[in-house]
Amino acid sequence: MAKPKVVTVLSQKGGAGKSTLTMQLAGGLVRRGRRVAIVDLDPQETASRWAQAAAATAPFPAAVTRLEDAAALRQTIRAAGRDADVILLDCPPSIEHPATLASLHEADVALVPVVPSPADLWSTKGVERLILQVQASRKGLKAALVPNRVLRTNLAWDVLEVMREFTLPVLGASLSQRNAFAQSAVVGGTVYQLGRAGAEAGREVDKLVVEVLKLTGEKP
Ligand SMILES: Nc1ncnc2c1ncn2[C@@H]1O[C@H](COP(=O)(O)OP(=O)(O)O)[C@@H](O)[C@H]1O
Ligand SMILES: [Mg+2]
Repeated sequence: MAKPKVVTVLSQKGGAGKSTLTMQLAGGLVRRGRRVAIVDLDPQETASRWAQAAAATAPFPAAVTRLEDAAALRQTIRAAGRDADVILLDCPPSIEHPATLASLHEADVALVPVVPSPADLWSTKGVERLILQVQASRKGLKAALVPNRVLRTNLAWDVLEVMREFTLPVLGASLSQRNAFAQSAVVGGTVYQLGRAGAEAGREVDKLVVEVLKLTGEKP
């Protein structure tokens, strides 16, 4: 069996959309027939609680394992992803947290959600620096910025703004600001479970999945 691809989702601070991106990506990958495992690196345990909020009749489509000890990241990933094709790492809301840096040493792909607002663009500089540093010694590490909470009226402009500011590439897919993304956290699921209310959001996640699979070097 092929080695599972490891995708870390990180940002400088909370609120950029790491957990949202992780959980929706998990849902989208499962819909494409991938087996997904999630490792929750955040002491605030957002991903774990999210999955726990799911009803017993509609469990979250991927298992979430909490990282108990940042020093044991490699072993935790290996154990959690034994039967997975893709392992998603939901990072703590800080690049100073040791698990964030450690995740970059285990990952094939790093995704950085960026809200196109001046404060977020500015704080993303620090994450970018960290990723570029790790890439200097780990040539195989792919990374991309993912515009999140994009206002639909602004889409093209917001994405251009993100591209202009950074050395890292901007992924060819983004997530808009949508109630469906917040709503699915409440019900412990993904936008795919929301019926018509989640349809547009689901199409965005589908595109995201295709772009992320391309980054991992796999055929979507
Ligand atoms: N695209 C989006 N549309 C609407 N709400 C969003 C979107 N992305 C994130 N949110 C909301 O923003 C908050 C922070 O998102 P979260 O994924 O928890 O960020 P992080 O994990 O980076 O701290 C949550 O309440 C989440 O529901
Ligand atoms: Mg989070």
